[in-house]
Amino acid sequence: MSSPPRHFIDTQDFSREELLRILELIGLLKEADKDGACPKLLAGASLGMIFEEPSTRTRVSFEVAMTKLGGHALYLKPGEIHLGQRESIRDTAEVISRMVDVIEARTLKHKTVLDLAANATVPVINGLTDYNHPTQVVCDVFTMLEHRQAGKPMGELKVTFIGDATNVCSSLMMICTQMGMHFTHAAPERYQAPQAWRQIAQANAAASGGSLTVTDDVDAAVRDADFIYTDLWWWIGQEAEIPDRRAAFMPTYQVNEALLAKAPAHAKFMHCLPASRGVEVTDAVMDGPRSIIYDQSENRLHTEKALLVYFVQPRLKTASPELAAYHRGRIEDFLSR
Ligand code: CP
Repeated sequence: MSSPPRHFIDTQDFSREELLRILELIGLLKEADKDGACPKLLAGASLGMIFEEPSTRTRVSFEVAMTKLGGHALYLKPGEIHLGQRESIRDTAEVISRMVDVIEARTLKHKTVLDLAANATVPVINGLTDYNHPTQVVCDVFTMLEHRQAGKPMGELKVTFIGDATNVCSSLMMICTQMGMHFTHAAPERYQAPQAWRQIAQANAAASGGSLTVTDDVDAAVRDADFIYTDLWWWIGQEAEIPDRRAAFMPTYQVNEALLAKAPAHAKFMHCLPASRGVEVTDAVMDGPRSIIYDQSENRLHTEKALLVYFVQPRLKTASPELAAYHRGRIEDFLSR
C-alpha cells in the first residue's frame, strides 16, 4: 500500500521553503528542456486531466509536460465524464485513481476539487477553481524572478494587481505575501479582495516580512511597482453584470500606456491570459516592450513539469531488472502455450 498522496490545491498548504524548492525545480527543468534534455522522469505514468471549463494554457501545458517527461495525459473535456452528475465525486476519484498516477482538475466549484482530493489515492493538482489558481501563480512568481531587476531581492519586489478580485488575484495575493513580497490590489471598493482573503494574506505578510495593500487609488498602486498584473473584468456566468463592471473599471483601471507611464521605467506587465484586448488592457501594452505575457505563458509548461515531477516521481514504482524479467518470462511462457 503506497503512502497517502500529497495534493497541490492551494499554496497555503505549503511552506515558503517548499515553494522555493518547487521554484528551483522549475528552473532546473526549464534549463534541461532548453538543452533538449528533459529527463523522462515519469516514463510509463499517466495523468487524468479533468476540465469542467475550457482551457488553452492549462490543458496544453499539462499534456505537453507529461509527454516531455515520458508519460501520457488523457484530456477529459467538459461534460465528458460522469463527475458529480451520474456518479459521485468519490466514485470518480476512487476509480480514476486506480488507473492514473496523478489527476489535474479544473472545476467550477472549489469544493469539487477538495472532494476529489479527499477521495483520490493519487495526487490531485488544482488547475483552477472559482476560488484560486495555484499552478498559475507559482508560474507567475517564477516569471517575476526571471524578469526582476538584476540583484533585487525577492523581499523587495512590489506586485500590483489591478482589477476584479478574481481567482488569480486571490492566489497571487497569497503566494506573494507568503514569499515576502509586497502585494497591492487596486480596484473600486465593490470589487476589492474580500476580508477573508485579506486576513490570510496579512498573516502571511506578518510571517514573511511582506505586505498587503488594498486600495482604489490606482495611480498610487503603480507608482513603485515592479510588476503590474491584470485579469479579465468578467467571466462566464457574469454576462448580466458586464455593463456595471465596465462602468466601474473603465477607464480608470484599464492598463494602458498612460497608466504604465506612471510606473517605474523597469516595471513589467503580466496577465494570466486569456485577455480581452481593449478592455482590461490595451493592445499597446499587451504587445509593448514591457509586456512579459508570452514568457509567462511559456513558464506554465515548465511549472507543470516541476509540479508533476515533484508530486508524482517519488511515488512511481520501478521493478528491478530481475523482477521485470520474471514477469515478462511468465507472460511469454503463457503466450507460447
Ligand atoms: N491562464 C490560464 O489558466 O489559461 P487557460 O484558461 O487557457 O488554461
